[in-house]
Amino acid sequence: MTKKKYLITSALTYINGLPHIGHLAGAMLNADIYARYLRAKGEDVLFVGGTDVHGTKIEVAAEQEGISIKDYIKKYHDAHTKIYEGFNLSFDAYGNTDSDANKELTYRIFEGLRKNDFILEKTTKRPFCPDDNQFLADSQVGGTCPYCGYEKAKGDQCENCTKLLEPEELKNPYSTVSGSHNIVFQDTKNLFIRLDKMQEQITSWVESKKGIWTDIAYTTAQKWLKEGLQPRGITRDLKNGFTVPLDGYDEKVFYCWFDAPIGYIGITKEWADKDPANRHWEDWWLNPDAVWHTEFIGKDNIPFHSIIFPGMLFGSKEPWTQVSFLKATSWLNFIGGKISKSEHRGVFLDEALEEFPADYWRYWIPANSPESDDSVFGFDSFQALVNKDLNDVLGNFINRVLKMTHNNFGDLVPPLGSITDKEKTLFATLDDLIQKYTVQMDAIEFRKSLALLREIWTTGNNYIAQTEPWKVVKENKEYAGTILNIALNLIPLFAQLTSPIMPDTAEKMLAIFGKKPPFVWPTGKAQDLLQALKSGDTFTPAEPLFRKITDEEKKLLKQKHHEGV
Ligand code: MF3
Ligand code: ZN
Repeated sequence: MTKKKYLITSALTYINGLPHIGHLAGAMLNADIYARYLRAKGEDVLFVGGTDVHGTKIEVAAEQEGISIKDYIKKYHDAHTKIYEGFNLSFDAYGNTDSDANKELTYRIFEGLRKNDFILEKTTKRPFCPDDNQFLADSQVGGTCPYCGYEKAKGDQCENCTKLLEPEELKNPYSTVSGSHNIVFQDTKNLFIRLDKMQEQITSWVESKKGIWTDIAYTTAQKWLKEGLQPRGITRDLKNGFTVPLDGYDEKVFYCWFDAPIGYIGITKEWADKDPANRHWEDWWLNPDAVWHTEFIGKDNIPFHSIIFPGMLFGSKEPWTQVSFLKATSWLNFIGGKISKSEHRGVFLDEALEEFPADYWRYWIPANSPESDDSVFGFDSFQALVNKDLNDVLGNFINRVLKMTHNNFGDLVPPLGSITDKEKTLFATLDDLIQKYTVQMDAIEFRKSLALLREIWTTGNNYIAQTEPWKVVKENKEYAGTILNIALNLIPLFAQLTSPIMPDTAEKMLAIFGKKPPFVWPTGKAQDLLQALKSGDTFTPAEPLFRKITDEEKKLLKQKHHEGV
């Protein structure tokens, strides 16, 4: 059997507006951590991500800035890219949904659906605003959700109850372009995908994911299936998107949610086309038996990834790689409410990087991942984690060990002599914790994973506290050398275990001993793992890895980001 391939995708972010920590928490950072973890384990990984550039939101935003859609896409795609690089997101294939490769694949899937009789043409009444003199996209119609009464529902989806909607279902509809309540429904012809004809196939496929997908993904998909699948529109009366290759569709484009998930494949194809001798997009996307595909998304994206996109792929009747594990997360909110640019509330990623190194965020966010419920970001919690976990636990351990060794043995790893029960206890504790940590990383349970990582770091401090090398060195220098040999060896071991979460920090930890990535996930016994550094190896005393956040600084950060307001 060929080796399993791990395909990892993270939801492609809309480029209107800049991303905030909620975007990192929802999909991208989780996906990156998982990709780094699997690479360290030596697995064959392809991590795909990028931006979503079609649809109304972007069309409207470009108009507001007074630039062409193409220029808008370029400007904001580049801005997003720079930020993701700053956070060390290690995409293998990265792009956007507007490429030639994606257009080709969109047409291919569309043709497949047409050939197999899953495309329906229907004349429907679409919202038209005479004051705006245009058809409005679903999301440009606001109003009250008929299901839950939420007053700021949009014509495509109610973000309060996650129901997908049609604009005509909204009560008291208005145009979000101008605010006008003058909405008329005018006849227009569009194409629909016959999800209704796939009810059985999708139902049994979703059922096979029970206990695999995250609960919220599975139950949301089930809720949708129980309501009965309906044809869904796949074209729109808009400008920003791929043209539709049919007569009579000159004024229309494919709906952004049609070509956006195909974008995962399109971005892979673009990447493969750069090195056709060695890369084949089909190995990833038309290879369902060999590929384990994990999709990282926020919970509002569940219906598209659990029902509609799978339906598109099934209906085109090619052997596409479907999602194996759908990892959906809830919201990361901010103390005081939802993150919002217009209300100046929250932390946007460009500011985040100016304020602290990427790794501080890369630690707080998965430690507080909104995995089962929404979670809340606040600077008290951020300060506590940075000061306690990063500084007091990890940073302080490293400083103390390097300093004690330097003072007593010079900048050399002392020899490893005979060990005592204290070392045996340390080894056993580490064996247990590393095993548990690996299990949680495999399960993509990041809150649990990070709690275990913290416990692993703590074993270093505990070991030093129990063995007291600063005292031992006075009466038994050989044993003191053994303690410090083991303590020094903990640093590169911790580096490997920390690397998926905080890659820059892990690199600095290795650099102390003149070592470099690639990182390798530890397997085997702790006692053996702790012999990577040998007696006589040199080290360079490092700058402190982290700095503390003062109360004064915290106060200013809260004000700046409108925490609690
Ligand atoms: N742009 C969408 C959002 O931010 C996500 C698209 S995911 C994709 O909600 F798979 F369709 F690309
Ligand atoms: Zn609702």
